[in-house]
Amino acid sequence: MSDIIFEVRIKGPDPKRELIMKNPVMTASGTFGFGREYSRLYDLNRLGAITVKGITIEPRRGNPPPRLIETPSGILNSIGLQNPGLEGFIGDELPYLRRLSTPVIVNISGNTIEEYAFLASELDRVEGVSALEVNVSCPNVKEGCMAFGIKKDSLFSVVSAVRKSTTLPVIVKLSPNVRDIAEMAETAENAGADAVSLVNTFLGMAIDIDRKKPLLANTFGGLSGPAIKPIALRMVWEVYERVDIPVIGMGGIMNWKDAVEFILAGAASVAVGTANFVNPTAPLEIIDGIENYMIREGINDIRELIGLGHRLPA
Ligand SMILES: Cc1cc2nc3c(=O)[nH]c(=O)nc-3n(C[C@H](O)[C@H](O)[C@H](O)COP(=O)(O)O)c2cc1C
Repeated sequence: MSDIIFEVRIKGPDPKRELIMKNPVMTASGTFGFGREYSRLYDLNRLGAITVKGITIEPRRGNPPPRLIETPSGILNSIGLQNPGLEGFIGDELPYLRRLSTPVIVNISGNTIEEYAFLASELDRVEGVSALEVNVSCPNVKEGCMAFGIKKDSLFSVVSAVRKSTTLPVIVKLSPNVRDIAEMAETAENAGADAVSLVNTFLGMAIDIDRKKPLLANTFGGLSGPAIKPIALRMVWEVYERVDIPVIGMGGIMNWKDAVEFILAGAASVAVGTANFVNPTAPLEIIDGIENYMIREGINDIRELIGLGHRLPA
């Protein structure tokens, strides 16, 4: 064991409900289900946090297939928020997750502001939920969701409503499909967000040249994986310069070097998404890789590394 200080905290309005992660690596929503499949491969207690698949009030079947396409350096998905609904999550998935020492972040989505507020107030009372991640950025559902995250006014309204409905730390997941992501992060902060996470997937598509039609049944999908990393990194850099709340960085993090880049750009914590499909133990390798890098660089506390790319002379 090294003496490295690896802990990351996200403060909410209630000091007793602070999100405390033992290391800065979490899973990205929708790429880790509710953890069960991965628990057969490694000890989930090693993760900094688990962000679960996006939850809506009612269960959803998601979009029709095909809804996952491989591209040369990433995947396009149009899953469309398939999930067991609030009751299904609380009854069937949370009891298992609650037994872990790893905090659980619940990603929430709605069609209206009232639905977001309802989910926040219901989850506020549920044991085993450590923070909420407000998904205002999913590109794969027809109404709601991304519509809230791409306009400043509606983003402000959703985040304010969620803020009033819970004392849990509120993380707002930003869409990269906007003109100025730093402005959106600032709006979320002004509305009471305790942290922002970025980025969700980029709207994209692929066409089958034999059928001469889009490959995804839904035409468009969200692009994730290595293809988006340089853009996501630039966005984390920009947002870090604009807000005072912690930034959770994600988008194409496949290994520890990618993660270190995000931390140097200003991410207090990183999330691993598409990499889980390619290499299921990627989050553990990333935790070890960051720690070894810090030892080699003589950095004792992760906080010294966060945003260091902005502070060193050129
Ligand atoms: C299959 C799939 C499902 C996803 N589902 C959700 C979701 O339910 N809620 C959400 O906020 N983000 C969702 N995302 C976005 C990821 O959490 C992450 O923001 C994005 O994939 C970028 O990270 P990556 O390049 O490491 O995958 C999903 C991504 C994928 C690939």
